[in-house]
Amino acid sequence: MSRCERGSAGRPRPPPGRARATASRDDGSLAPRAPADGGAAIVVQALAAAALPAALADLSELLIATVDGGSPLGFEKPLARTEAENYWLSLRAELAAGSRVLLVASSASRIVGAGQLALSPWPNYRHRAELQKICVAPASRGRGIGRLLIEALHCAARDCGRSLLVLSTRLGEPAHRLYRSMDYRQAGIIPGWTRGPAGERYAHVTLYREL
Ligand SMILES: CC(C)(COP(=O)(O)OP(=O)(O)OC[C@H]1O[C@@H](n2cnc3c(N)ncnc32)[C@H](O)[C@@H]1OP(=O)(O)O)[C@@H](O)C(=O)NCCC(=O)NCCS
Repeated sequence: MSRCERGSAGRPRPPPGRARATASRDDGSLAPRAPADGGAAIVVQALAAAALPAALADLSELLIATVDGGSPLGFEKPLARTEAENYWLSLRAELAAGSRVLLVASSASRIVGAGQLALSPWPNYRHRAELQKICVAPASRGRGIGRLLIEALHCAARDCGRSLLVLSTRLGEPAHRLYRSMDYRQAGIIPGWTRGPAGERYAHVTLYREL
């Protein structure tokens, strides 16, 4: 597990700009540092393939709470624990190969958020990366952790030589507003991109940002 900088995101709803990226290249850190505000410290770290089993319970709980709370991230609720665990374990090969980066945000050694970068190995894609499955535990939302994770993913992308970021998210959700506030530009909307439990369809928006 590689070490990143510490941040603090304990205060409810930090104003815009509170968690600006200040990652240093010298110490190998990936994460931005939020200013100290007296709240619980949030540590953002890259999780290596070998560290997945130890983090499996926390990661699965995070994913289940997110999916069952109404943000499917590709799954359907109710999400079974074995399905959640199998998903996380399925990332091992790509994490080991370096074609995927998994960052986790922890508070008091408990994982409360996660986000990923998919790094395509194709030669003419090597400047770009896709942000995937960014989530914060429902009880920890609104404290700046999502923004902190995304800024850390930006740092990780730069460290991997990637300068163009893309992602897809459900239209109009809090995540959409968060990305727009972080200078992501809208490439287009695909109606009916995902399906809900009753077969209803949801429009998704494709966003991109140059680092
Ligand atoms: C999107 C998500 C990761 C944001 O995490 P978070 O820790 O709550 O986000 P932050 O506290 O850093 O909030 C950052 C910004 O998001 C917006 N935001 C977050 N939650 C919001 C809410 N419930 N309502 C309105 N805006 C919200 C605000 O604009 C906030 O800006 P501010 O810092 O200027 O106040 C979290 O809501 C989540 O896990 N959602 C479910 C999964 C998901 O949709 N992931 C995205 C898939 S691409």
